[in-house]
Amino acid sequence: MRIASKIDKTSEAFKLNQAFHLGLVKKMEALEGEVALGGGVDTLAKLAKQGKMPVRERIQKLVDPGSEFLELSGFAGQGLYETAVPAGGIVTGIGVIHGRPCMIVANDASVKGGTYFPITVKKHLRAQEIAEKNHLTCVYLVDSGGAFLPMQDEVFPDKDDFGRIFFNQARMSSKGIQQISSVHGFCTAGGAYIPAMSDQSVIVRGTGTIFLAGPPLVKAATGEEVTAEELGGAKVHTSISGVADHLAEDDEHALQILRQIIKYLGKSGEAPVKLQTPELPDYDPEELLGVIPAEARKAYDIREVIARIVDGSKLFEFKPNYGTTLICGFAHIEGIPVGILANNGVLFSESALKGTHFIELCTQEKIPLLFLQNITGFIVGKKYEHGGIAKDGAKLVHAVANASVPKLTVIVGGSFGAGNYGMCGRAYDPRYLFMWPNAKISVMGGEQAADVLATVKIQQLAKQGKELTDADIKNIRQPILDKYETESSAYYSSARLWDDGIIDPRKTRSILAKALASTLHHPWQETRNGVFRM
Ligand code: COA
Repeated sequence: MRIASKIDKTSEAFKLNQAFHLGLVKKMEALEGEVALGGGVDTLAKLAKQGKMPVRERIQKLVDPGSEFLELSGFAGQGLYETAVPAGGIVTGIGVIHGRPCMIVANDASVKGGTYFPITVKKHLRAQEIAEKNHLTCVYLVDSGGAFLPMQDEVFPDKDDFGRIFFNQARMSSKGIQQISSVHGFCTAGGAYIPAMSDQSVIVRGTGTIFLAGPPLVKAATGEEVTAEELGGAKVHTSISGVADHLAEDDEHALQILRQIIKYLGKSGEAPVKLQTPELPDYDPEELLGVIPAEARKAYDIREVIARIVDGSKLFEFKPNYGTTLICGFAHIEGIPVGILANNGVLFSESALKGTHFIELCTQEKIPLLFLQNITGFIVGKKYEHGGIAKDGAKLVHAVANASVPKLTVIVGGSFGAGNYGMCGRAYDPRYLFMWPNAKISVMGGEQAADVLATVKIQQLAKQGKELTDADIKNIRQPILDKYETESSAYYSSARLWDDGIIDPRKTRSILAKALASTLHHPWQETRNGVFRM
């Protein structure tokens, strides 16, 4: 039951791995530091003069003292546009308020006036999706100039664009998922609907305004001259229009009122889980950096990772001697039960069948699933195709897709090809998906893609009786290798919100515990499986 680690912490390999992965973590922390500055110190100073706190300070004052905010997708937007959009211009994550985990969505006014770039919209919608799935109360700290106007065609008209934010608010409210907002800045046009669509709202005197059209547009449209405060300031909306419910004197007061609102909410639902007393792992999570090989391709025993994540390093393995390239087993993380599926090599038919069976057991018993992805894909070749690897892989994909218990995925190494699907990649609706800094994701490895494309070209030309020189082949291969190298990086993924954030491997246990805890406030759906193709 208890995993017995075989790692030698004094070995040269351990030290080399540790130095390599520590380097990756340091690079990540440096980037986090840059992102935390938002639009830069000058802009923050300008906002401070208006009495506005930096966005992360607001959040820190909103959550329970001593609790840690789980920020999601801090690298969203990196390198996507000509102008920098740190964190995608919006901070999202799970914060505990009066003991209740809430989804906090907070505009960063220091980044282009908190306006919505395409990635801002995507991040806001992802936060709402997480909230809806987990039945988390949503708290919006609104401080945004609305759509980033030069990119209106990418943020306004389509289904998953700006309008979807308000659609989600209405749908969540109808499901009893509270929508609460606090207005700290100008809310113009579309932005006005965030507080207007909320169940309860707060507005800050002096800095907060809500209107469908600001003073310049009103003047242009009707000739009426009016100040922002007269048109839609805090006093107007809390005493004349009734658009907002509570008047706050400043940012800090607004956050106190939000905490009060949450304190007086009713009881949330409960998930059908049997919790147990948490226990620390036998092995220090710090050691993870030395456990993961520095060379991505080098095989290692994934149990060494599990031993540093789960309570008491205890894993009750399912079918330990069958389909051994997929480790399946029951464990707990800070007292919360999980069924773990973790790659220990390429997926064979047996591993896929074992995974399918294990998922069925977990869904029957209402045990959340944790996928630890390090997968090059399913096994290829004539022998395996004849053995029906496609239909066995399909069973795993089928079971993953239909599992209604909470699913969490951490990409701890490679995530390539259909292995990504079978191991609950983004398209399979994990409630959270995190990546380690060393993680890589692409349809196949760069080498394989370069080989495939070179082979296709060679075959095309062979039909015309032509041949490629070695230099020609290199010219085909190199740009593909370069492209895959860039595009498979965890940062490329996180910038585009293919995941919910890059995490320090050493914090995996505590982050998963917070994520799992956020799934426990609502009864889970029954899992109904379709027909498995046997
Ligand atoms: N689209 C694109 N850029 C915008 C923008 C918008 N809707 N609103 C503000 N910006 C940009 C500004 O051009 C400025 O860019 P810069 O730093 O490169 O000069 C930056 O955001 C900050 O704006 P600024 O006006 O200097 O900051 P502020 O704190 O004084 O005011 C706002 C912020 C949002 C209140 C104000 O800019 C505003 O009213 N914007 C227009 C809002 C609007 O009408 N939106 C309709 C959208 S549906």
